[in-house]
Amino acid sequence: MSESLVTIRAARPEDIGAMAGLLEELAVVDEDFRTETSARLRGLSMMLENHGGRVILVADERGRIVGMCSAQLFVSLAEGGPVAMVENLVVARSGRGVGIGSSLLKAAEAWAAASGAKGLQIVVDAGNIPSLEFLMKNGWRRTERLRVSRTIA
Ligand SMILES: CC(C)(COP(=O)(O)OP(=O)(O)OC[C@H]1O[C@@H](n2cnc3c(N)ncnc32)[C@H](O)[C@@H]1OP(=O)(O)O)[C@@H](O)C(=O)NCCC(=O)NCCS
Repeated sequence: MSESLVTIRAARPEDIGAMAGLLEELAVVDEDFRTETSARLRGLSMMLENHGGRVILVADERGRIVGMCSAQLFVSLAEGGPVAMVENLVVARSGRGVGIGSSLLKAAEAWAAASGAKGLQIVVDAGNIPSLEFLMKNGWRRTERLRVSRTIA
């Protein structure tokens, strides 16, 4: 696969099946994604229904979806403005290592800047060292914060 044949564009409803398949690949490295397929399909539909402050970007290789990531804005009181949370960044195993992940990240950064965000954040599974290395190579820096969560429904 060559990165030059890949276009980064906003996801469309007809991409949902392919994106759900990519999220299966994410489940291999991120246990948060070891959930029911129906939950992921529901989440993808919700993201696409309402475009306010959110986007899903896909890497389209001549009609085949080979990567994706999403971004959503939230207001950071510490930063005094919107910040983008980047999630669901994954490239199909067959397409890794040719720059597609970096292109998705750059597109998310451009979307965030155009949306007025002051910065971006991403949560990475602590054991996912390769993706940390990937982010460092793309100019991101590691913080000492830990994410703590609780399920209520
Ligand atoms: C992490 C991921 C998105 C990277 O996508 P990719 O298209 O393979 O990455 P790129 O080809 O754009 O690589 C960009 C740089 O990161 C480096 N990199 C990518 N994967 C790496 C890995 N596994 N280990 C070390 N460095 C890596 C590349 O060597 C490249 O550096 P270079 O420009 O000096 O050659 C992809 O490997 C993936 O989908 N992983 C599984 C899902 C995942 O971990 N998601 C969390 C992402 S935060």
